[in-house]
Amino acid sequence: MFSTQVYVQRREALKAKMKNGIILFLGNEESPMNYPDNPYPFRQHSSFLYYYGIDRPSLVATIDLDNQQETIFGDELTLDEIVWMGNQPSIKEQAEKVGIYEVLPSVKLYTFLREAIASGRDIHFLPPYRPENKIKLLRLLNIRPDQFALKSSDDLLKAVIAQREIKSKDEIAEIEKAVNWSVEMHVAAIKYAKPGMKEAEVMAKVAQVALEHQGQPSFPIIATVHGEILHNHNYSHTLKKGQLFLLDAGVETPRHYAGDLTSTFPVSKHFSKKQKEIYQLVLDAHYATANMLRPGITFKDVHMHACRVIFEGLKDMGITKGNTEEAIIEGAHALFFPTGLGHMMGLDVHDMEDLGEINVGYAPGESKSALFGLKSLRLAKELLTGHVLTIEPGIYFIPELIKRWKADKKFEHFINYKNLRPFMNFGGVRIEQDYLITKRSSKLLGRKKPMEINEIEKLRQ
Ligand code: GLY
Ligand code: MN
Ligand code: MN
Repeated sequence: MFSTQVYVQRREALKAKMKNGIILFLGNEESPMNYPDNPYPFRQHSSFLYYYGIDRPSLVATIDLDNQQETIFGDELTLDEIVWMGNQPSIKEQAEKVGIYEVLPSVKLYTFLREAIASGRDIHFLPPYRPENKIKLLRLLNIRPDQFALKSSDDLLKAVIAQREIKSKDEIAEIEKAVNWSVEMHVAAIKYAKPGMKEAEVMAKVAQVALEHQGQPSFPIIATVHGEILHNHNYSHTLKKGQLFLLDAGVETPRHYAGDLTSTFPVSKHFSKKQKEIYQLVLDAHYATANMLRPGITFKDVHMHACRVIFEGLKDMGITKGNTEEAIIEGAHALFFPTGLGHMMGLDVHDMEDLGEINVGYAPGESKSALFGLKSLRLAKELLTGHVLTIEPGIYFIPELIKRWKADKKFEHFINYKNLRPFMNFGGVRIEQDYLITKRSSKLLGRKKPMEINEIEKLRQ
């Protein structure tokens, strides 16, 4: 937890924007894996963590804006629960640490909200994403689940995003901790992976770093010799000499701030000539776009520059051809770079994505492209001082996609399909780091991970 003042000030800033009615924040419940007493590891709702910091299940908080009353609803542990789980600080003690002095049993919430509804008061809530909270909202507010998006509060959503997207000094320090531990993960894997191992062995080495820091991986680890599969959570392949290994992994700290890094390295001691060329091009795209980061630029423009650098570089290798600007506007580069360049990061690895990608990553009224490639851009809007985001360009040779586009004769004027034959088993390269937008430009978060070709080859010896 941060200091009491941090949480008090965050709520004061929110109250100043929201004016009247009641704000309702649902914390998360335990979520059973295969039977109720065997739950997934508990993960608190990120907005609840942001305003209340209390990391325990089954809490609901309200802010009564008209009566200046802040309350946490929850039930203290029963003796039976203490016998099984040990004693813990009471909700009352935890609430006082974040400046809340009224704690009521959860049965009182229903009556409180019923009375508010009967008096015609506005109840502001964020769109729920967990089934337990959907059921709770249905019961508390009598709103059908298909109406949640419609009836959740747009004003609250916008106020929360505007606040959470600008990271404070304390948060930046916590994210740097997450990134530094994430760098440890990557160095450990680059040193450890050997031909003949299973991907799962490398994954376990990476997860160990998070667990040793009393954290956890900030998302399911990608550790694979099939880096061309964008979100590959399979760890069954054996590492073979000549292959590339892609690791996308980060730590979530005990305070739940995320890091998110991707490294690509050869299973052999050295990159092959072809691997070096593609790797260097992704690295160039990474640096070129990271150097553009500053307040006032739109992330869409930064993304388009990554497309440009990648398309031009592939042209030098004889893989692409034609007018670069036309090619990237039409989406020809997306055969190799079908993802967005990056996303916001904070309490969530894709920060606030539960509040809607379009609400977090796009300006009001701005719509998302439906074009293959650009439709996967999570962040497009103008950057502001205090934003934390990732830069993660990649080049992927996806055999199924290449075969389909070739058969459809798609973008034949931009792509030399015959020169792609030697790349059908190449895999994928992605290089990802995390950045803070500063007053005038940007700053790399955490220490720089080894990512120059010679740095990686040195670690592979
Ligand atoms: N770890 C998923 C991503 O890089 O966005
Ligand atoms: Mn990542
Ligand atoms: Mn990422």
